[in-house]
Amino acid sequence: MTDPDLSRRALLKTAVAVGGASALSACLDAPGTGGPVPTGDPANKPDSQHAWREYIRTDDHGNSLLPRHQVLLYATLPGDGPPSESDRETLESALSVLDRAYEWSAEGVVHSVAYSPSYFERFEDDLPEAIDLPDPTPLSSFEEPTFDTQDILVHLASDRAAAVLEAEQALRGRRDRANGVEVRASLTDVATVDSRRTGFIGAGLPAENQDAEGIPEGDHVPEASPLFMGFKAGFVGNQASEDAVTFDSGPFAGGTTKTMTNLRQRLDDWYVEQDDSERIAEMFSPGHAEDGLVEGVGENLGSDSRIDQFVDDIEDDAREFGRVGHAQKAARGNRDDEGNVKLLRRHFESTDDIGSDQSVASLHFPTLQTAVSDFEDVWEAMAGEDLPAVTPAVRQRVNNGILEYIFVRRRGYFLVPPRRHRSLPTPRPDA
Ligand code: HEM
Repeated sequence: MTDPDLSRRALLKTAVAVGGASALSACLDAPGTGGPVPTGDPANKPDSQHAWREYIRTDDHGNSLLPRHQVLLYATLPGDGPPSESDRETLESALSVLDRAYEWSAEGVVHSVAYSPSYFERFEDDLPEAIDLPDPTPLSSFEEPTFDTQDILVHLASDRAAAVLEAEQALRGRRDRANGVEVRASLTDVATVDSRRTGFIGAGLPAENQDAEGIPEGDHVPEASPLFMGFKAGFVGNQASEDAVTFDSGPFAGGTTKTMTNLRQRLDDWYVEQDDSERIAEMFSPGHAEDGLVEGVGENLGSDSRIDQFVDDIEDDAREFGRVGHAQKAARGNRDDEGNVKLLRRHFESTDDIGSDQSVASLHFPTLQTAVSDFEDVWEAMAGEDLPAVTPAVRQRVNNGILEYIFVRRRGYFLVPPRRHRSLPTPRPDA
């Protein structure tokens, strides 16, 4: 007999992926969806749009548990010029509907509005020099992403599928009320949604949604895994804090930069040709496999992946074991001079296939950092183009972390302004 909890979770994830009014009603009608969604107090929201950590769930070790359902809306303004004051007021009014309708939490909706370098080109002024926000670019010789250069990226996230869908419908002008609050204005009054993308994260959801292109048949993804590849990620000890990625001065103080990459996953060989120990070696490091440091999905690691003790061994590992780990490689680029972690990663899974109806396993990979060049440095360390020179056993995509299984499709860079400047800011909002 089908487990009713499993079917309910699958229904909610599918509803978010499909979107629209009927998907929203299906969610609202689903049994056991958790009662009324808490409403919000507009005066009681953090200054930073990316301040999520205190407002979402954490596990017993203090690791953040990202909201289970997420929607990304990439939107474009008309024409080439800057938006008007009245556009700014309209968008602010649309966003303040969400402020009132939903608590700033995973039980309500957390959200952010971010702006691309192309958006800021609409203005005569430049962004302050201290803001490092280049155009997106390929970050290795073996990737050819499509660049997301739309003006605006809206990110909505909630543990409640119905809330995230309803918030989206309100922003797109398709509802008169959101959680009881009148919808007076919408994002689509000022911009056109060019691309809608969705995703999910959390134990159970990847296992239920493994019937997707890129994942071999046979229920390989463990029920306990928050991600398709079978391990948990985002240990608090391996993440930058929100404070560390927040600008502390300038007109955008309280804001941050955000990168968003989408990667297709092809996990046949990951699951079919490798055993647990090989997967641990490629995901973490050969030392993690040898010392038996990872049990199951890695819950036993607690609050830190313990990667720091293996970073300096990477070339020796390549020679001795003929492979290197993904986290081991990435960590090489992910510490500042004082040893602090540079990036705050918030990645989640997807089965969207942008542009067709097929389910394709992919990862939405957002990172937050004060300077986009930090992200680029970490990506280059993760791409490990230096390692094939150490030993022929490590090739560009083989035995080189998880590069055999992930393929970059899209990338965009954005500025996340502080809440006070979230609506169509000029490059010099305090001027
Ligand atoms: C399907 C794709 C991916 C999966 C399943 C994945 C999974 C993981 C896991 C399990 C860890 C170790 C635990 C942790 O610290 O979070 C990790 C670490 C990390 N990954 Fe990934 N990852 C993926 C893609 C990427 C990509 C594309 C990058 C690009 C730069 C990246 C950057 C990092 C970084 C910076 C770390 C932390 C290393 C440190 O301790 O500093 N990951 N990842």
